[in-house]
Amino acid sequence: MFLRNLLLVIHIISAGFWISQLPVELIFRRMQKRAEGTPAELTLMTTSMQLLGGLGQFGGMGILITGLGLVILEGLGFLGIGGSTPTWLVIKQVIYLILLAMVFTLIRQGSERIAAALEQARAAGGVVTPEIRGLAERFGRIALTHNLLVLVNILLAVWKEPQ
Ligand code: HEM
Repeated sequence: MFLRNLLLVIHIISAGFWISQLPVELIFRRMQKRAEGTPAELTLMTTSMQLLGGLGQFGGMGILITGLGLVILEGLGFLGIGGSTPTWLVIKQVIYLILLAMVFTLIRQGSERIAAALEQARAAGGVVTPEIRGLAERFGRIALTHNLLVLVNILLAVWKEPQ
């Protein structure tokens, strides 16, 4: 029982790290808007990319390790393999795989492209160009979709429906 509770606590904290990307991004976007055209905008954009990346990595990895630990401990299986998996948990696991696929494709490519553009901007005098803002806006839409899927998983986990 102690191990199950410990895993669940870390699982919930990891979900908190992951979903906190939503408000963190909104706060940084507001600060960047106020600093538009100044060197501070570049610093803010660089910092937000690193912070959001870190929250995603801690959240995603924490969720996977503790999620697998919980299903093994409770004999719930993964997509019906290794135990009978309730529908809400199957949906959660499928959404987790979609989130993982987004991270290794769209999110990794997008963040690498922005990081390279920010590096160039820093070398060229430290001001964010309209092209970089365009890249960040497109990346922001992908990140929003990603975070809304995390929110769906939180709702599914609390309601535990459909069975
Ligand atoms: C974005 C991904 C995920 C999020 C945000 C998430 C979130 C949560 C939350 C908040 C709870 C606690 C619900 C409550 O106690 O009311 C929970 C429970 C649970 N999660 Fe996840 N989860 C995710 C992915 C996964 C994955 C991939 C697995 C399995 C491989 C998993 C397995 C479980 C299990 C077994 C429980 C129930 C534990 C229990 O009550 O004994 N979760 N999840």
